[in-house]
Amino acid sequence: MARIIVFDSGVGGRSVAHAIERCLPEVAINLVTDREGFPYGDWEAAALKDRVVRVVGQALDRIPADAVVIACNTATTVALDALRAAYAVPFIGTVPGIKPAVAATRTGVIGLLATGGTIGRTYTADLISRFAGQVTVVPVGSRNLAAIAEAKLAGAPVDRAAVMAEIAPLFQRAGPPVDTVVLGCTHYPLLLRELQGAAMALGAGTITWIDTGPAIAAQVARVLARVLEESASGQVSR
Ligand code: DGL
Repeated sequence: MARIIVFDSGVGGRSVAHAIERCLPEVAINLVTDREGFPYGDWEAAALKDRVVRVVGQALDRIPADAVVIACNTATTVALDALRAAYAVPFIGTVPGIKPAVAATRTGVIGLLATGGTIGRTYTADLISRFAGQVTVVPVGSRNLAAIAEAKLAGAPVDRAAVMAEIAPLFQRAGPPVDTVVLGCTHYPLLLRELQGAAMALGAGTITWIDTGPAIAAQVARVLARVLEESASGQVSR
């Protein structure tokens, strides 16, 4: 049976793990979280890169994984290349779903909801210039949504007004409205119902919410198929 590590700063790993379980029920998943490092959104890039490489390395020392999913946009933007350079196991990263959002929008205006860290990184700017040349992107760096998701999964009620305050900047611009919102942090799919309710309360029209979980699961399936093939033929996987 294949075994994978799904890594995040916190509960965001669960949204990705659910998507992988639905697609690959036979794969064993070890969720690894860096609770002490949460929230990653507030870290400076170089320090976060070093931390992620170290914490993932410690996990690989204890868990014989066939692949590692970095189920965190913020960590992927700074550490994916360094992880691939440091460890021989295959890595699957998480990047904001700009490309599917561009395909989905009818108004030509998409929102990108992510941590402040992800919003500010060159990695994200490159994604936008590669895939979103023909549309307008409204980037919103959220300070509190990841913590709201953590609290929800710990059993606390979610305050509608707090969620509205986080996403209001998506819907305040003049001109054609945002009709598609990229959930650019793996914590946010865990708040989908609350985000839908808050958007409705803010008077937004019908919104398509882009969750990259299913695309990550499909990529895990491709990588594991390759790993199995290579191990059957005696090659070393990377
Ligand atoms: N789940 C992480 C992401 O996808 C971020 C949460 C955090 O700030 O630690 O970006």
